Amino acid sequence: MERTVAVLASQVRLEERLLLAALSRRGVAHVQVDTRRLRSVLGERVPERWGVVLNREIGHTRAVYAASALEAMGRSVVNSAAATEVCGDKWRTSVALSAAGVPTPRTALALTPEAALDAMEDIGYPAVIKPLVGSWGRLVSLIPDRHTATTVLEHVAALPGPRSHVVYVQECVPDLARDLRVVVVGGEVVGATYRRSSGWRTNVARGAVSEPCPVTTELTKAALAATTAVAADIAGVDLVEGADGELLVLEVNHRVEFAGFHAAHEGRLDVADRVVEHLVTGLRA
Ligand SMILES: Nc1ncnc2c1ncn2[C@@H]1O[C@H](COP(=O)(O)OP(=O)(O)O)[C@@H](O)[C@H]1O
Ligand SMILES: [Mg+2]
Repeated sequence: MERTVAVLASQVRLEERLLLAALSRRGVAHVQVDTRRLRSVLGERVPERWGVVLNREIGHTRAVYAASALEAMGRSVVNSAAATEVCGDKWRTSVALSAAGVPTPRTALALTPEAALDAMEDIGYPAVIKPLVGSWGRLVSLIPDRHTATTVLEHVAALPGPRSHVVYVQECVPDLARDLRVVVVGGEVVGATYRRSSGWRTNVARGAVSEPCPVTTELTKAALAATTAVAADIAGVDLVEGADGELLVLEVNHRVEFAGFHAAHEGRLDVADRVVEHLVTGLRA
């Protein structure tokens, strides 16, 4: 039986250090694999006796292809290549959420910057535009009016690469003082935080502060519906509260960062340990 856990990462940050430490603490054989050194030949199996691969690769393209290559070589990868592909692309996530009936803010896709102007008229101002692939709130832009939309879309049109010209447009959920982050591991909610920020984007990477958030039935239902819709095993679900208090899912992060979550819960909820417990259960299966 192959029991080694391979932790796939090109950068070992706080989360990866906590995961490696949790593996050691539980006495689970493991190895850290640098994604940048990974290559595979179709039809051959990986020589290493990896029972399961935990994909912590930070780059979207590398994460998707690493998962796909390792699955092609008969390895079990968490999250799967399919889930990584969907979660890493905001439009594909929205499609999956909508198909599963998970409430989200109103969202549109425009295939050119010109069409994005029309999409914003449909959605109404203020609107939010986001890169299809991205995180930490990077380039997520609040567009207050048509005048600003026109100039921002000129910038979008000047970006290189066809993918940059496909514009994800979303209704802006007003008066957000905070959003919610729910950590899910193996179909169970580990816990949740509110993220508060002085700016409108509440990413911890942008300086937002995390506070414990009560895990209500409604929150659990929304978070698990979202992770099921995108087939993610381990995830950080971002949600906002709509005007009537309804929970709306923004995205599902497949390579969840949990430094803010740990700080908020003062270490009482150990995400790394829950992840390792989940992986070990998979190894035994
Ligand atoms: N439709 C929206 N209405 C209001 N605020 C939003 C909306 N979409 C995103 N935000 C804010 O921007 C942050 C980043 O957006 P998100 O979709 O989670 O992208 P990222 O992958 O960059 O984290 C969210 O945490 C939230 O604070
Ligand atoms: Mg987010």
